[in-house]
Amino acid sequence: MSFKETITIGANTNNPLTVKRLGYGTMQLPGEHVWGEPKNRDEALQILKTTSEQGINFLDTADYYGQDVTNRLIKEALYPYKDDLVICTKVGANRGEDKSWGIYDKPEDLRASIENNLRTLKTEQIQLVHFRVMPGSTTPFEESLNAMFEMQREGKIMHVGLSNVTPEELTKTLAMGNVASVENTFGYEQRKSFSAYGMEIRGMQEVMDICIENNIPMVPFFSLQSSLHNKENKIVEIAKKYNASPAQINLAWLLHYNDLILPIPGTSKLNHLNENIKAFDIRLTDEDMAFLG
Ligand SMILES: NC(=O)c1ccc[n+]([C@@H]2O[C@H](COP(=O)([O-])OP(=O)(O)OC[C@H]3O[C@@H](n4cnc5c(N)ncnc54)[C@H](OP(=O)(O)O)[C@@H]3O)[C@@H](O)[C@H]2O)c1
Repeated sequence: MSFKETITIGANTNNPLTVKRLGYGTMQLPGEHVWGEPKNRDEALQILKTTSEQGINFLDTADYYGQDVTNRLIKEALYPYKDDLVICTKVGANRGEDKSWGIYDKPEDLRASIENNLRTLKTEQIQLVHFRVMPGSTTPFEESLNAMFEMQREGKIMHVGLSNVTPEELTKTLAMGNVASVENTFGYEQRKSFSAYGMEIRGMQEVMDICIENNIPMVPFFSLQSSLHNKENKIVEIAKKYNASPAQINLAWLLHYNDLILPIPGTSKLNHLNENIKAFDIRLTDEDMAFLG
């Protein structure tokens, strides 16, 4: 079974961005609780350089990783950026000094985040920004989105996407403007409900179905971590067949499941990054996919 090796973000716009269908998520790079400098700074910089050397040209970040740590590392490792690199950041959340996760989605908050991302990444326009919906927000969803689209008209953002959205929020946004991509939890084991970091995980299969209907790229998060704790599932069986690791088969499943999926596995380890990159070479059969279900 083959799969499409690239994906185009904003395919129906004047600024289509085509990237390899395997990105990298930077959230594992900072210290514990996604805060502070990496435990091994050299390895973190080497991971980012390796992504570039290995043809990965989609990076997921946020200024609330760190605070600002992943953006600074990206700039240090990769600036001046290659022309085909797409950096995707997220706004809608922030961090307290106590490392807590807060809601930051009022129009003025979003603007401050975008300015901060532009400054820390040292760029004049961010190619893709996901508005990250935070459960418990009191800001009307439309108000936040209007602010995003306004910053897009101003040229600070090239493409607007959504993250952690419900099916209803995604449908509502599609009536307001173009949704370049969606970043929700999705994965072999994450199609059903689960929790991680005590956070409410939303959307899942229903959101994926709306993306398929509307041809919207899906950038899944948390695709690996809960699957890797399960030692007895069908993934492990297929991994043995291909002499691969369960992480690789989870990624291969995503790549074969649907051509709209752009996986962004996160890792703080160079050997895991290299392993994940090799998953791109695995071709599962129709029978494997049917067996995995
Ligand atoms: N939009 C959102 O709300 C949101 C939320 C969370 C994350 N994200 C983004 O999505 C990206 C992916 O999510 P994630 O990093 O939380 O989770 P993930 O990709 O599902 O899994 C990361 C975990 O898997 C481990 N891992 C990775 N490759 C491995 C391998 N080959 N073998 C064994 N273990 C492996 C990592 O540990 P090691 O470090 O030891 O490799 C880490 O514990 C993040 O980096 C971030 O950019 C977005």
